[in-house]
Amino acid sequence: MTVIQWTEAMSVNVPLLDKDHKKLIQMINDLDHAAPDFMELFNAVLDYTTGHFEREEAHLEAIGFPGLAAHRVQHDSFADEVAAMLRQYREQAFATGDSRLKDFLWSWLKGHILIEDQRYAAWTRAKGG
Ligand SMILES: [Fe+2]
Repeated sequence: MTVIQWTEAMSVNVPLLDKDHKKLIQMINDLDHAAPDFMELFNAVLDYTTGHFEREEAHLEAIGFPGLAAHRVQHDSFADEVAAMLRQYREQAFATGDSRLKDFLWSWLKGHILIEDQRYAAWTRAKGG
């Protein structure tokens, strides 16, 4: 069941990065807490996210986005928040169907794409790019 969807409001007007965001959303949709290989799937999302952050930061560097350092801090804080979530996951027995990890990924990513990523999209538009 698709619970989240990419929308035009999320577009950053960079085809490669929009494609990454769509792929990430799909991967989160495919996460099934009850699946025996859940941690493998979860780690695959984290790996993809790391690669995406690198591609996005390379793009921001290439266009000379002045908010790059602040944006990088946002990306780095994601890793810290994931580590905290994973500690909880290991320390408490998550019941079958508990969707906290999935919910965390979705709410973080949705907020990031709609607010933080839109900053460089708006900056690029203002420059006429
Ligand atoms: Fe970002």
